[in-house]
Amino acid sequence: MEGVTVMDALSQLTGSGGVVLAAHGIDKAYRRGSWPARRAVPVLAGVNFSMHKGEVVGLVGENGSGKSTLMKILVGALAPDAGEVERATRLGYCPQVPQLYERLTCDEHFELFGHAYGIAGRVERESRASIYAALGFERYARARVSQLSGGTTAKLNLGLALLADPEVLLLDEPYAGFDWDTYLRFWDLVADRRIAGRSVLIISHFVADEERFDRILDLRDGRAVPR
Ligand SMILES: Nc1ncnc2c1ncn2[C@@H]1O[C@H](COP(=O)(O)OP(=O)(O)OP(=O)(O)O)[C@@H](O)[C@H]1O
Ligand SMILES: [Mg+2]
Repeated sequence: MEGVTVMDALSQLTGSGGVVLAAHGIDKAYRRGSWPARRAVPVLAGVNFSMHKGEVVGLVGENGSGKSTLMKILVGALAPDAGEVERATRLGYCPQVPQLYERLTCDEHFELFGHAYGIAGRVERESRASIYAALGFERYARARVSQLSGGTTAKLNLGLALLADPEVLLLDEPYAGFDWDTYLRFWDLVADRRIAGRSVLIISHFVADEERFDRILDLRDGRAVPR
C-alpha cells in the first residue's frame, strides 16, 4: 500500500473517483478519572467511512455513542488515536454546540466568517442573502447573538457552515432546535445541494424521515454500520 492513499484505495474499490471524504480504521479513547484510577474509555474502535459526491448520509446513534467525536475527527478538529482521514475537497462544519460571539450580530458573523474563508465581499453578501431567505431569519440580521432564540441561533450556526458553499457539509444535530416549518426548509435546502452535486453528512440521535437520506449509518459499539 506504500504510496497509495485511502482515497486511491476507496476509488478503486468503488470503481469511481467520486469519494469526497473517507476515513479508515479510526480509533479514539478519552481519558477519564484522576490518578491512580485514570483510565482510557474507548469511544471509536475501527471506524471506516466514506462519502461520495452528491450523497446525503445520516449518522445515527444513541447519546454518547461517539457521533460528535467522529464528526470532529472527520473535519480535523480532533486528532484520532489511530487511523486516517482523507479530505478531497472543502468542508463546511456545523458543530453541535454553536461557536458564536455573543456580542456580534448575525450580519457581523457572516462578514467575519466570509473574511476567514477568503471569499469576496460581493459573493459573501449574495450568499448571506440566500441563506437568510432559505432559513427565514433575515429580520434578525442586525440582532446580537445574545438576543437570539435557540432556534435562530441554530439557523445562524447552520448558515455559517453554508456561507462558502462547501462541497461537503457536515452537520451535527442541525435540526434539533428547529420548528416544523424550518425543518421542512432545511430539507429543501439539503435537496437543492444534492441536486447540485454537493454532499451532506447529518448526525442525529433519531431519524424521522429515512427516505430523505441516500444511506444511513448506525454508530454502535464504536463502529459505523450500514443500516
Ligand atoms: N472531551 C472529552 N473528554 C472526555 N470524554 C469525552 C469528551 N468528549 C466526549 N466524551 C465522551 O465520549 C463519549 C462520546 O461522546 P460524543 O459527544 O461523541 O457522543 P454523541 O454520540 O455525539 O452524543 P450526543 O447524542 O449526546 O450528542 C461520551 O461518553 C462522552 O462522555
Ligand atoms: Mg453529539
